[in-house]
Amino acid sequence: MVEAKRMNLFLLLTDFFEKLDGKDVIEFGSYRGGNALFMAHVLKAVAPKARVYACGTYAGMPVTDAAWDLHGAGDFSEASFEALSKRRDKLKLKNLEVVKGLFADTFPGIARKKPSFGLAHIDCDIYSGVKYAQGASVPLMTQGGYVVYDDADAPSCISATEAVEELVMARRLHSEQVWPHWVFRAGL
Ligand SMILES: C[S@@+](CC[C@H](N)C(=O)[O-])C[C@H]1O[C@@H](n2cnc3c(N)ncnc32)[C@H](O)[C@@H]1O
Repeated sequence: MVEAKRMNLFLLLTDFFEKLDGKDVIEFGSYRGGNALFMAHVLKAVAPKARVYACGTYAGMPVTDAAWDLHGAGDFSEASFEALSKRRDKLKLKNLEVVKGLFADTFPGIARKKPSFGLAHIDCDIYSGVKYAQGASVPLMTQGGYVVYDDADAPSCISATEAVEELVMARRLHSEQVWPHWVFRAGL
């Protein structure tokens, strides 16, 4: 599954990105940076001017809602902002910005840089994070940009599924893909 998802991100960035006006990438939920490093590496080759923003607490899940989030506060705490920044520097990925903090605290600073997202990778597993991520990023997506959910189809992330269903109902959206990611296109 992880491999199929990695391949799908690769295909989106290499075969479907060229036509887009905006090519910045944002990841909501970066943990130890596996996908963020991968996307920055690929993007460096296909769109060298584009930025990748890797957002997370780097200290585990924030407070969650036990009524429907299956993850609890502190899950995924084996992450480190410093370690990921070092790895980024070692790999010479100058296009990768590691952004530490709650999305609601850090995203306004990213928005002020006026990014135009070609891809938003929403990988934060819990209702509050997914709800914030999709509401914040959709207005900054370029026409046709890809909103890609990593975990909203996972049995361990039913609250993430609900957050996406709410978006679908509110905006009457159709999916571009349902496997290996659930994917929507902005403005189409
Ligand atoms: C499944 S992990 C991300 C995995 C990662 N994308 C990878 O490639 O390995 C989910 C992450 O979302 C982060 N997260 C969830 N809600 C958040 C929020 N509101 N603000 C910041 N980070 C959040 C957690 O700290 C956790 O590290």
